[in-house]
Amino acid sequence: MRILATADLHYDIRRSRKSAEALARRVRQTGGDVLVLVGDTAGVRLEPMREALRLFADFPGLRLLVPGNHCLWCREGEDSLDRYHRVLPSLAAEEGFFVLDHRPQVLGEVGLAGSVGWYDYSMIEPELGIPEDFYRAKISPGAARYLGTHEDLLERHAEALTERHMQLGVRWMDGRRVRLPFDDDAFCARLAARLDRQLQTLQARGEVRRIVAFLHHLPFIEQVPADRPDRFAFAAAYLGARRFGELLLAYPKVSHVYCGHSHWKDSRRIGRLEVVNIGSTYVDKHLEILDL
Ligand SMILES: [Fe+2]
Ligand SMILES: [Fe+2]
Repeated sequence: MRILATADLHYDIRRSRKSAEALARRVRQTGGDVLVLVGDTAGVRLEPMREALRLFADFPGLRLLVPGNHCLWCREGEDSLDRYHRVLPSLAAEEGFFVLDHRPQVLGEVGLAGSVGWYDYSMIEPELGIPEDFYRAKISPGAARYLGTHEDLLERHAEALTERHMQLGVRWMDGRRVRLPFDDDAFCARLAARLDRQLQTLQARGEVRRIVAFLHHLPFIEQVPADRPDRFAFAAAYLGARRFGELLLAYPKVSHVYCGHSHWKDSRRIGRLEVVNIGSTYVDKHLEILDL
C-alpha cells in the first residue's frame, strides 16, 4: 500500500503554480493507492481549487483532501462553516476527491483519518509576553498602532506593552478572511470532537491494523520551530492545538501523522507516532511517500 501526501499547494498564488504543477507530475510518475492533499490547496476563490484538484485527475488511486485554513477563507457574506461542510465537499466530489474530515476511509488494513485541525492558543510563545487579547484579535500590538485599529486593546494593555511589542507588525489573515459563527476555541473543540469520533470508529474496526492521520494544523508543540524571529514567534499561536496531539496519542492504532501549514519541513518521533510536517513552501512543494 502506497500513500502519497503533499500540502500547501496554494494554487491560487501565482508563485506557487509552477511548483504545484511539477509536484503533480511527480505524483503521476510515482503512482500510489492513495493521494492526500493536506490543506491550503487554494484560497478564497474556488476556481483555483478546482484547477488544483484537476492536476491529479489521472491519479488512479483514492484521492482525498483535508482543507487548510486558506481553504476556509471567504468573502463578505459567505461563511467558512458553509465552505467546510457543503461547498468544499461538493466541489471535491465533482473532481473525484473526498474530504477526509467528513468521513474516515479504510483501505485494507489501513484506516485514514483527517481534519483541518485548528488553533486554540495553546501554542502561544510565552517568552514574547504579548497579552492574549492581541492573539485573539489576530493582530500584533505594532500592527494595531500602525494601522490605527484596536485602540481599546492598546489602551487596556498599555502597561504591559513594550517597545519590542510595538516593533512587531504582524496580522494573521484568518482574522479578516475566516468567518465563523463562533470563536476559535469553539471551532477547535468541534473539530477535535469530530476527529475523536473518526479515531474511535477506526480503532474499533477489527480489520484496521493501523491508522494514518492527516491534519493541516500542527497537533504537537514539538513541531513548532524554536528560536525564530519575533514575527514567527507571534505566528506560533496560530500553528495548531495541543489537544489534537493528545487525541492522536490516545488511540494505539495511530502510527503516522502528516501535517502542513507551517511551511516548515520536519520529521520526528513523538511517543509511538511518526510525525511528519510535509513542509511545502509557496515556491517549493514536497511529496511524502509512505509504503506500508
Ligand atoms: Fe499554507
Ligand atoms: Fe495553513
